[in-house]
Amino acid sequence: MLDDQLKELRARFDAALAQATDAKTLDAVRVTFLGRSGEITALRRGIGKLPPAERPGAGKIINEAVEAMEAALAQAQSHLASRAFAADLSNRIDVTFPSIPPQAGSIHPIRRVLEDACRYFQQHGFAVVLGPEIEPEYYNFDALNIPPDHPAREGFDSFFLTDNLLLRPHTSPMQIRTMQQHRPPVAIVTPGKCYRRDAVDARHLFQFHQIEGLLVGEDVTMAHLKGMLTGMCRELFGTQQQVRFRPSFFPFTEPSAEVDTTCPLCRNEGVQCRMCGGSGWIELGGSGMVHPNVLRNMDYDPDVYSGWAFGFGIERMALVRYDVDDIRRFYENDPDFLKQLA
Ligand code: DAH
Repeated sequence: MLDDQLKELRARFDAALAQATDAKTLDAVRVTFLGRSGEITALRRGIGKLPPAERPGAGKIINEAVEAMEAALAQAQSHLASRAFAADLSNRIDVTFPSIPPQAGSIHPIRRVLEDACRYFQQHGFAVVLGPEIEPEYYNFDALNIPPDHPAREGFDSFFLTDNLLLRPHTSPMQIRTMQQHRPPVAIVTPGKCYRRDAVDARHLFQFHQIEGLLVGEDVTMAHLKGMLTGMCRELFGTQQQVRFRPSFFPFTEPSAEVDTTCPLCRNEGVQCRMCGGSGWIELGGSGMVHPNVLRNMDYDPDVYSGWAFGFGIERMALVRYDVDDIRRFYENDPDFLKQLA
């Protein structure tokens, strides 16, 4: 009798659940069947009218029925909630809308100039070698024909770490290391960081990069040096950049020449240009024929062998190549600036 009643009630309860489409109607179902004055409560009241022996059994089956209905109700609630959530999402989010594209990085302009300059020389048979940034005075100065009391030593304005060790102010020490390890012919370029106690401005940094080149063999001439360096400038800057060789002095070369190119800022118009100071040219670096004393220091016979060498500033080359008006821009890490050059 009670069983039949519960079965019939459950059928109506299930039908009502299936009809419920939102939290409100669902709650109405709960109140109707399981609420304090709902149908189950009415059934429980009936227990009192049963013979005493049947009462505990009746209480138990009602409780079981209530548990099952509560579980069904909870399930229906969570169903409805997730349906509502999905409906809400599809109202708000257009899943076909393109997402934010990932930001792709690029090779830094200084690295690119360095690699392209190396590649140019590699294509002409030069090897690329790397060397230490901390060097004793011997490699930085003595072996390069710069005696201890020579004023050129001060010109390099170096960061000394100990009495004898310094952060290299140029890549020229690698000429010495290379010649110590190899007999001629040698043909190398060696790029890397250098350090000088320079005040920072549009053309100067205290940490910068150079690329050094060295060619030693029989019958090596200055004409070849000029051809190679002019070729590198054409390759990196294009043919519109002018290049000039200006007589100069370095203790480790004789004769020596500094290499200039058209100022990228004023394009040779000069006057009050803050990049070139009005000369219309900016200096890329130094070069020359390896001094016989340097060859002798390395046990290379200067009567048999001759050589040329150069050392160029990579940042200077990048200024020209990318038409940038201030060397500091390369190290500000401004993504918009870097993207423009990529
Ligand atoms: N080491 C020189 C400097 O940093 C540049 C230089 C000049 C390098 C002449 C050379 C060279 O190899 O032959 O100012």
